[in-house]
Amino acid sequence: METKIRSLIVIVFIATGVIIYGCTETDSTKGVGPIKNISIDSNINTSLSAQGKQIFDLKCAICHTFDKRSVGPLLKGVTQKRKPEWIMNMILNPAEMTSKDVVAKELLKEYKTPMVFQDIKEDEARSILEYLREKDKE
Ligand code: HEC
Repeated sequence: METKIRSLIVIVFIATGVIIYGCTETDSTKGVGPIKNISIDSNINTSLSAQGKQIFDLKCAICHTFDKRSVGPLLKGVTQKRKPEWIMNMILNPAEMTSKDVVAKELLKEYKTPMVFQDIKEDEARSILEYLREKDKE
């Protein structure tokens, strides 16, 4: 009898753990990193995207273009393929993304070069995202 109660208690504990884990698990399509949820306007903020372009030309264009695959993936269409949170996490947290996020892991396997973090701030990453969104509307 006592062992039955004990195993019942264990089962309840495990079930509770599974439920709690299930509820706190993050949306994997948003990637791994500081950005959990962002809201974006459907219109492009052109002054923000202009800021993003400057940073992109300086820090990203060596490895990415919009017309062909380079050291890194072609970025045309990336905002249609990935969630905005995912893109920002990739910019802000590439090492963890390529070791934990399923999609980013596959990219690293394919491209072999790791994408480097270049001390990009959150608001800078947001402006780059705006630039990528603008490019995808062209
Ligand atoms: C040293 C080269 C390099 C630099 C610099 C670089 N990247 Fe990358 N990027 C890569 C590689 C390579 C990948 C594929 C994942 C990997 O191998 O780590 C990638 C992946 C990405 C992806 C995901 C693409 C997809 O198809 O989902 C985005 C978005 C991205 N980079 C944006 C940027 C931005 C924005 C910058 C500038 C802040 C930047 N990258 C700077 C090499 C680079």
